[in-house]
Amino acid sequence: MDLYEYQARDLFESHGVPVLPGLVATTPEEARAAAEKLGAGVDGKVVVVKAQVKVGGRGKAGGVKVAKSPDEAEARAKDILGMDIKGHTVHKVMIAAGADIATEYYVSLLLDRAERRYLAMASVEGGMEIEQLAVERPEALARVAVDPITGIDAAKADEIVKTAGFGEDVAAQVADVLVKLGTVYRKADATLVEVNPLVLTGDGRVVALDGKVSLDDNASFRHPDTAALAEEEAAAGDPLEAKARASHLNYVKLDGEVGIIGNGAGLVMSTLDVVAQAGEEFGGVKPANFLDIGGGASAQVMANGLDVILGDPQVKSVFVNVFGGITACDEVANGIVQALEILGDEATKPLVVRLDGNNVVEGRRILAEAAHPLVTVVDTMDGAARKAAELAAA
Ligand SMILES: Nc1ncnc2c1ncn2[C@@H]1O[C@H](COP(=O)(O)OP(=O)(O)OP(=O)(O)O)[C@@H](O)[C@H]1O
Ligand SMILES: [Mg+2]
Repeated sequence: MDLYEYQARDLFESHGVPVLPGLVATTPEEARAAAEKLGAGVDGKVVVVKAQVKVGGRGKAGGVKVAKSPDEAEARAKDILGMDIKGHTVHKVMIAAGADIATEYYVSLLLDRAERRYLAMASVEGGMEIEQLAVERPEALARVAVDPITGIDAAKADEIVKTAGFGEDVAAQVADVLVKLGTVYRKADATLVEVNPLVLTGDGRVVALDGKVSLDDNASFRHPDTAALAEEEAAAGDPLEAKARASHLNYVKLDGEVGIIGNGAGLVMSTLDVVAQAGEEFGGVKPANFLDIGGGASAQVMANGLDVILGDPQVKSVFVNVFGGITACDEVANGIVQALEILGDEATKPLVVRLDGNNVVEGRRILAEAAHPLVTVVDTMDGAARKAAELAAA
C-alpha cells in the first residue's frame, strides 16, 4: 500500500525526521481554516496547497500552489480539489507551511529485490526534474547498496552523503535524516521511502518537503495501526474491490464482460489470456476481472465470489475455471450449486463451468444432476472460454 503525502509526513514526524507543519483539508473552507492556523499572511508567511493523490508529478500538473493568505489558500484549494491528476481525482489537499528553499536535494531508500538488499539513492540536484536527471546524467544520482541487517547506520549514512557529494555545511544534517529514514523504513516495513525534495532552507535547516512511502502489504499484520489507513483506502477505491476485500477475496476489477473465477493465481492469469484470445472472435470480448478463490474454496467463498462478479454491471457471462486439487471437483461442484441457491434470484447471468483434476467425474455428475438453467459445463478450458465469450457477446 502506498501512503498519501500527509500520511508519510506524519510517519516521518513520529520518527524525528524534520518536516514542516501540514494539515489536511477536504473542502476550501477547511483549507482556509488550516491556512489561518499556520499563520498564512502573518509577517509575510506563505502556505502551500498540495493535492493529495498517490501519483508523482503533482507539481507539474498544477497540483501544488503557493498561497499568501487564508483567502488565497481557499481559492487554490477550490482549484485543486476535484482536479484530475493522471487519472487520480483529488479529494484532499494538504496545507503545508511554506519553506524558504535554498536548495532541493533527493534521497530515497528502496528494496532491491534482484540484489536481495536495500538501495539508497541520493542527489544534490533534487526536485521535480529528478526523473530526467536519472536518465540524462545518472552519475549525478548516487546509488549505495545497504545491507538490510545493519540498515542505515551512521557509517552508511556518511558513505551515502559522501558519494552524493553533499557539502560540509549540510553533511551532518543529511546523514541524520538518512539514519532516521532508515528507521522509518524498518519500523513501518516499507519497500520505498523517498523524499523529493529534501531541502536546505534559507536559515540552514534540512527539511523533508515531500514524502513518498510504500508499505509491504505482506507485513500489514504487524501494523494494526496502518490497517485503518488501508480501510480508508478501500472506501475510496472501487466499490467491487472494496466488497471483495471485505470477504477476503483476491479480486481485481478489469474492464471486460466475462467474469472470471478460478482457483490459484496462475490458473486465473492464464484464464484471462485464454478468454481475451477467444473473445477476439466475438468482437473483442474481454475478461471483466481477476478473481482467485484459492485452494479450499467452500460454497460460501464461491457464493461471495459470484456475488461480487454478478454485482459488476459490465459482466455478461461468468467463467468458473477450477482445477481440483486438495479441494476436489465434487466439493467445488457442490459449492457452485449451493452458491446459486444462496444467491437465488440475484444470479441472473449465464455461468460456464470447467472442472478438471481431482474427482472430476463426480464433480461433473453433481452439476449435471443439479441441471441449473444458468450453468453450462464445458470440459476443456479453451472450449469453456469460447462459450463464455460467445454468451457475453450475445
Ligand atoms: N512546503 C513547501 N514550501 C515551499 N515549496 C514547496 C513546498 N512543498 C513543495 N514545494 C515546491 O513544490 C515542488 C513540488 O512539490 P512536491 O515535490 O511535494 O510534489 P510533486 O511534484 O508531486 O513531487 P514528485 O514529482 O516528487 O511526486 C517542490 O519541488 C518544491 O519546490
Ligand atoms: Mg516531490
